[in-house]
Amino acid sequence: PISRMRRLLFFLLISIVFSHWTDDFDLPPELLEYTIRNRPELRERCAKDPDCPISSSALSNGRCWGHEPSCPFERSYSADRISCTLPVAQGQIQNRKVQHEHFFDQADWGYLKGHGRSEKHEICSSSEEDRTRLVCSRHLAHCTAENIFFDFSNLNAKRSKRYRDDVIQQGQVGGNCETFNKKLLETHTDRQSYLQSWGAELKHFESSSEFVVHDEHCDVIFERPTIVIKLDASINMFHHFCDFINLYASQHINGSLFDTDVDVLWWDTFSNGFIDPYFKAAWSAFSQNPPVELIALDGKRVCFRKALLPLLARQRYGMYYNMPMTDGCAGSGLMHAFAHHIFHRLRVPQRGPLVDKVRVTILSRSTQHRRIMNEKELMARLKSMDGIEARIVDYNGKVPFLDQLESTHNSDVFIGMHGSGLTHLLFLPDWAAIFEIYNCEDESCYYDLARLRGVRYKTWSNMTLLTRHGEGRHPHNGTPHAKFTDYSFDVDEFERIVSQLVEYVKRHPQFVEARRKLRRRNNEGREDL
Ligand SMILES: *[C@@H]1O[C@H](CO)[C@@H](O)[C@H](O)[C@H]1NC(C)=O
Ligand SMILES: *[C@@H]1O[C@H](CO)[C@@H](O)[C@H](O)[C@H]1NC(C)=O
Repeated sequence: PISRMRRLLFFLLISIVFSHWTDDFDLPPELLEYTIRNRPELRERCAKDPDCPISSSALSNGRCWGHEPSCPFERSYSADRISCTLPVAQGQIQNRKVQHEHFFDQADWGYLKGHGRSEKHEICSSSEEDRTRLVCSRHLAHCTAENIFFDFSNLNAKRSKRYRDDVIQQGQVGGNCETFNKKLLETHTDRQSYLQSWGAELKHFESSSEFVVHDEHCDVIFERPTIVIKLDASINMFHHFCDFINLYASQHINGSLFDTDVDVLWWDTFSNGFIDPYFKAAWSAFSQNPPVELIALDGKRVCFRKALLPLLARQRYGMYYNMPMTDGCAGSGLMHAFAHHIFHRLRVPQRGPLVDKVRVTILSRSTQHRRIMNEKELMARLKSMDGIEARIVDYNGKVPFLDQLESTHNSDVFIGMHGSGLTHLLFLPDWAAIFEIYNCEDESCYYDLARLRGVRYKTWSNMTLLTRHGEGRHPHNGTPHAKFTDYSFDVDEFERIVSQLVEYVKRHPQFVEARRKLRRRNNEGREDL
């Protein structure tokens, strides 16, 4: 224990001596670079600092994220990440560019500009520091507010249901604006479905010259910047990660520096709150403080110095639920940045690649439907194949989410049946491939998600080589349904598809580069001996 203590002190000392102001952002190198370059005050500070980890050429290369008004596609984070493979007619090379830009507008940083998501309409404005500001995008899809209150007298938490839109009534939201443009508020209160906008919460907004953020007017005051967020299903990874990607995107719209000293308010009107039993660990990428449940504020008048009301998970054409995507294109820079933000913030290590093996993982399901009945046989085949390290995992509730992420991130080829667990594909390494062994006739869900993330996707296509165990009927209405039964798969066909994906990974430039570095390191190690 003494030596451990010493070691700890040593590391503490080292990190005090060698830490740099840019470390405080807690961002991986590339995201740090974009963040600093695109903030004039930070860029200047870095330019003057000989120890700044970003070179002067990188500081002035003009690259931007892609959602800023003055950032053309060619200079965006995504310019060399998006790839489109649909054939373009000879001499029509211009069409390739059109495909790229179209994908960029639908599924990348352009998504933030589309549908007016990053527009800034000043509904309430003030020049004085302690008065109120409310700035929202079109349809109130995204808002920021300063010195605003909500009154939760009407919540009645004990008997409250989920997805209510009547919590905030006349006189229960407001501030003190120098200029209040009520007409503008009404214009944008045109979409009020629960996870589409902040319409139901803000439509009664009023300005009063009496109001100040003070104990006299507020039972609770959130002094820190606060993420106020309405959430999708906490038990379903596909839906819940719509919350997280939209929150990340919203921080970009807000111009956040991704500071984690913020509060989070889970706006869930259900009497038990949101809870988030499986994915709770993901919140620490956004906030170091424990989230507050709406029901904990029942009956109170609550004031916020600075609130961010982010884009929500079920907007029309939202990211990524129900998102239209250009055929043949893949590799959203926004999704890439999100994944790497999460890897870094949650300390998900990449231990690969391995020098001579490709890591293949089968995701098993301990659920009632959609099981792979001959999993053992498929596993045995993987083990007999050359150059593969095979593993089978079951991400049930007993495996902590961070362990799941680590396991996924250390898979080069990931195999699983249609289901929300495949959302894990977001956290594969950039060079990886996903094999949705059967899509259960839901063809675009994980295919599109894989394209967003830029990982290779395959699914089963030869129906004569697949066995359905029982007909499969929908538990509620009894109609035949491919998702409510189990399957087994032809082993040779399985091997054929896995081999293709393994070859894909082995040729991926980032994988090749990472292996080259690894070999060089290993050789140097040998010379040292
Ligand atoms: C939103 O941006 C403001 C201004 O940059 C910042 O102070 C605040 O912390 C941000 N809010 C969140 C929740 O990131
Ligand atoms: C499916 O597999 C069967 C049996 O191997 C084969 O005869 C058939 O041609 C395959 N169908 C397609 C569309 O590849």
